[in-house]
Amino acid sequence: MRAMETPVRHDTTPPVRVGPATAADVDALAAVLEDALADKYRAAFGGYARAAIAALARAELAAGVHGYLVARRGDDVVGAAHVSVSDDAGVVDWSGTVRRAVGWPRSVRADLVLSVLAHGPLGADEAYIGEVAVRADHRRAGVASALLDAVEQLAAQRGRTLLSLWVTVENDGALALYHRAGFRPVTTRRWPLGRRLFRAWGATLMHKRITPPRGSVTGKDSPP
Ligand SMILES: CC(C)(COP(=O)(O)OP(=O)(O)OC[C@H]1O[C@@H](n2cnc3c(N)ncnc32)[C@H](O)[C@@H]1OP(=O)(O)O)[C@@H](O)C(=O)NCCC(=O)NCCS
Repeated sequence: MRAMETPVRHDTTPPVRVGPATAADVDALAAVLEDALADKYRAAFGGYARAAIAALARAELAAGVHGYLVARRGDDVVGAAHVSVSDDAGVVDWSGTVRRAVGWPRSVRADLVLSVLAHGPLGADEAYIGEVAVRADHRRAGVASALLDAVEQLAAQRGRTLLSLWVTVENDGALALYHRAGFRPVTTRRWPLGRRLFRAWGATLMHKRITPPRGSVTGKDSPP
């Protein structure tokens, strides 16, 4: 009788690497965000979501703002996140960029729809996570966790001590992710239009306190 063969597993999956998005990543990151955050982006931009996200990402890069991070496996962009701090406020002309990308009527609609999700002015100690998204075929493999680690490092390097984000109340997967990453709920807001627009009756603000490295600078003095 032949001895039973033990299969030898060769895990050829390349590791996840997270870093700042470059101009070459913009189309791929827009595709990831459009697919993963379809409830938000299709409500705002309809069939023009990818064009709008790509235009905003290009405008940020052109302005020297590096809020987009991408997670790569090999050559593929498999996840993306966006983080902003108060220094970045107003650097990109959001409405003008969207208007040029998708036209005036759609940009007005997008402004209205996304204003429902608006977070408000950022505190000098705060880094705000606007989105975290992972390609459907790469989920539950630590990609979002790696993105959140990188966001935290970036925020800490810029002297921020608070990470904040909003998550819709019915997004159990994201709530579990953020809890596990150390975020805690602060408040929940109901939005009258939310169920129609985003298929959720409300959203929860979550916070995580972080420690900046010694000697890091804060607020307006922080480097890009
Ligand atoms: C939510 C999302 C970003 C998670 O990405 P991910 O790469 O799969 O997350 P991770 O693999 O890093 O998950 C880490 C932990 O979070 C929790 N978690 C993540 N997704 C989960 C899910 N769908 N259900 C339950 N727990 C989940 C688990 O504890 C998981 O650890 P485990 O896999 O060892 O059990 C991804 O599902 C996604 O892109 N969803 C659509 C976009 C979205 O909702 N973004 C958040 C908007 S605020």
